[in-house]
Amino acid sequence: MTQQVRGVIAPGRDEPVRVETITIPDPGPGEAVVRIQACGVCHTDLHYKQGGINDDFPFLLGHEAAGTVESIGEGVTDLAPGDFVILNWRAVCGQCRACLRGRPWYCFDTHNARQKMTLADGTELTPALGIGAFAEKTLVAAGQCTKVDPAASPAVAGLLGCGVMAGIGAAVNTGNVGRGDTVAVIGCGGVGDAAIVGSRLAGAARIIAVDVDDRKLAKATEVGATHTVNSRTADPVEAIRELTGGFGADVVIEAVGRPETYTQAFYARDLAGTVVLVGVPTPDMRLELPLLDVFGRGGSLKSSWYGDCLPSRDFPMLIDLHQQGRIDLGAFVTETIALDEVEQAFARMHEGDVLRSVVIL
Ligand SMILES: NC(=O)c1ccc[n+]([C@@H]2O[C@H](COP(=O)([O-])OP(=O)(O)OC[C@H]3O[C@@H](n4cnc5c(N)ncnc54)[C@H](O)[C@@H]3O)[C@@H](O)[C@H]2O)c1
Ligand SMILES: [Zn+2]
Ligand SMILES: [Zn+2]
Repeated sequence: MTQQVRGVIAPGRDEPVRVETITIPDPGPGEAVVRIQACGVCHTDLHYKQGGINDDFPFLLGHEAAGTVESIGEGVTDLAPGDFVILNWRAVCGQCRACLRGRPWYCFDTHNARQKMTLADGTELTPALGIGAFAEKTLVAAGQCTKVDPAASPAVAGLLGCGVMAGIGAAVNTGNVGRGDTVAVIGCGGVGDAAIVGSRLAGAARIIAVDVDDRKLAKATEVGATHTVNSRTADPVEAIRELTGGFGADVVIEAVGRPETYTQAFYARDLAGTVVLVGVPTPDMRLELPLLDVFGRGGSLKSSWYGDCLPSRDFPMLIDLHQQGRIDLGAFVTETIALDEVEQAFARMHEGDVLRSVVIL
């Protein structure tokens, strides 16, 4: 059996997205169909639409989502219809080398649904990050569903499914920010601001927000930045050094995904400090650094996929912290929109006046 729902597809490189009828098969073994309640618009969706990730058009966009399980396939034992879940793009396999050596947050073989969702004419869709949740319902692997406290708002919970988790995890898991550390975050969109929230949670003493947009810097201060630098008008490396007694920050988190901002991050950290790249570059980008500086400055240069999160560990914990008022994930929801407003939300992302637009279904 199949069912028809509405979903937002990116038909081809740089073409506007549009709402189409999509066909969803009943869940097969190990799969689940989830009724989507909310899905945030992440910059990665825009990368998909622009062909910056790969060429597997048409994409079914959307991947920062929460909803309720509608039906489960054969052999699914830890989910039931009605469960409130956040969708994740790290359904750990338990069998790859990373999983077997006890590092499942690096899992090399995460699960997605085996069956395909299609357009009415049978064209197979590629769901963004194996999720595809700008849709009334979507088909995923059961392991992509992480149960959390159903008292949480779906709009807030969904954001943990990608950008907010990526940012918090970049600070807490990858960057290993600790009590008393100084942290600089370059690029204060949803991901960068989440890195600020994570740094604050971890006890950072000083959190320097860097962006080219003053509105973003004002928001960064709201979520916990202690200092701000507009890198359009000031040299961010100099400014960060000045704010850290001439040393540079212990951890610098790059949340833009460009060679220039990565280079700033590289030089804005203290000797033996850590750079975390969480922004996603495009395939054409190249980085040039004096190898002697890479060697001589010591420390570690890391990248962070999905904040090195383990959904089963991190999602319920962060939702609990939010419900207790210890972190404010509500601050990330700038506006709620309808399914047919995703294209406009991409435009607003460019204009810089939103942290997250969240599609409510
Ligand atoms: N690693 C991961 O797992 C992961 C997960 C989600 C998103 N991402 C990536 O993180 C990045 C940020 O995502 P987002 O949703 O926060 O995007 P966004 O568009 O909301 O935010 C980007 C921010 O960077 C700022 N910016 C742009 N150019 C800049 C520059 N030269 N210097 C300083 N700031 C600059 C913008 O003003 C904006 O505030 C994207 O590349 C996205 O693809 C990575
Ligand atoms: Zn694995
Ligand atoms: Zn994302």
